[in-house]
Amino acid sequence: MSAESHRTDRIAVIDDESESLASICRALKKVGYDVSSFEDGVAAVQNLEALQDVDLVVTDLKMPRVDGIQVLRKVRAVNREAGFLIVTGHGTVETAVEALKSGADDYILKPLDLFELRERVRQILEKRRPENELRFLRRQIAAGGMSSIVGKSAAIQRLQEQITIVAPTRSTVLLLGESGTGKDLAAQTIHASSPRSGASFLPLNCAALSPTLLESELFGHEKGAFTGAVERRLGKLELADRGTLFLDEIGEMPLEMQVKLLRFLETREIMRVGGSSPLTLDIRLIAATNRELALAVQQQKFRTDLYYRLKVVTLVMPPLRDRTEDIPLLVWHFLTQFSAEHGRPSLSISEEALRALVRYPWPGNVRELKNLIENLVVFSKQPLLQLADLPLEMRQPAANGFPSSTRLGLFEELNMNSIERQAILQALERTGGNRAKAAQLLGIGLRTLQTKLKEYGMTER
Ligand SMILES: Nc1ncnc2c1ncn2[C@@H]1O[C@H](COP(=O)(O)OP(=O)(O)O)[C@@H](O)[C@H]1O
Ligand SMILES: [Mg+2]
Repeated sequence: MSAESHRTDRIAVIDDESESLASICRALKKVGYDVSSFEDGVAAVQNLEALQDVDLVVTDLKMPRVDGIQVLRKVRAVNREAGFLIVTGHGTVETAVEALKSGADDYILKPLDLFELRERVRQILEKRRPENELRFLRRQIAAGGMSSIVGKSAAIQRLQEQITIVAPTRSTVLLLGESGTGKDLAAQTIHASSPRSGASFLPLNCAALSPTLLESELFGHEKGAFTGAVERRLGKLELADRGTLFLDEIGEMPLEMQVKLLRFLETREIMRVGGSSPLTLDIRLIAATNRELALAVQQQKFRTDLYYRLKVVTLVMPPLRDRTEDIPLLVWHFLTQFSAEHGRPSLSISEEALRALVRYPWPGNVRELKNLIENLVVFSKQPLLQLADLPLEMRQPAANGFPSSTRLGLFEELNMNSIERQAILQALERTGGNRAKAAQLLGIGLRTLQTKLKEYGMTER
């Protein structure tokens, strides 16, 4: 999973020694963090509001009146998710341990090694990223400033830009993408960010109706136009006047309807079925399909002229499996949304479970992911979703994911020690040599792992 964040991490630094404060701030700013500073513990607790949104606090331990531990308690009361790195002078290791017991993530000794400092900061941010992202999303939602299309991948960013450009115009837009990739959502977003947002957005699914019904749905009919037409009925086109009409699954539109739609797009006029005078309409049309329209054109199932008319502005919705970096964001987004909707405390997800979701190919795209998360929120008993909570097909490593080399070759030794050794090596490899994480992955204690490393003469790393 990509650890890269879609926003700048915010760090607050608190130290009563001004030189030390300045050098820590400089070291962190240099690598791109958004840094704010406080001259001592008192200044920090007087500005708790400013600390509500930080991802990490670096604080000196020994400060007059309000020390690092007190700062930690105060900040955590308003910001449960923030990481804490305690900075302490030589000789106060006991107090540093005390700080860890009070919930700090780590401590670092003075005089400071700035590389070391940055490394610890990076690690804590990484560890706390899921919680921090959740807090961030919660605030965005509370502030109503949430862009409805979640994602940070290049593809989604481009889509958002394209939407910003086309939304204010009356251009017809064609949305292409597999089912569940967000075509409906994109259409609604275009309408909502257009000058037409005050008027209606009307969706019509072309695959759901018979050709005759589709025609009267679209164009409306006069009383008595055909048997059963007992009343005059306004069509979707007329109802969408000044607004946006969204024709979903346009690839399924019967050929004779395609002719009529094309005529409307050229003249901007309609005639109700059985009617005699044309009506001029001001409509923005958005069409969507999960079919290869170009292929349908080749097979003469879709009119070339209509196709060219529609495809002037084409937005392609990429499948979720091609933008895996969006998966964690979507997971956090839906966790927050459904926790709130179902009145449940905000759920988190374990690193391991999240990784499995990133690996899964999502044939049903975002729709499938959204449904899964809602289901998990409703049925979860624990506040942290674990790998075991996921459906079986998502728990299995994908063929293109991690090497499934835990399966030993036919000619390999089926000797317990050698298998164990292999497992340890792989665990260390996957965790970049981090023994604590490797032990966790193996399901054994750190002590046990260390003993085994010694036993196998693997203590070099
Ligand atoms: N990028 C996204 N961010 C947030 N929600 C999304 C995103 N893409 C899709 N969804 C949600 O997933 C569901 C399926 O999307 P939808 O627009 O109906 O897909 P499609 O029309 O392509 O089948 C909807 O509930 C939609 O709101
Ligand atoms: Mg749809």
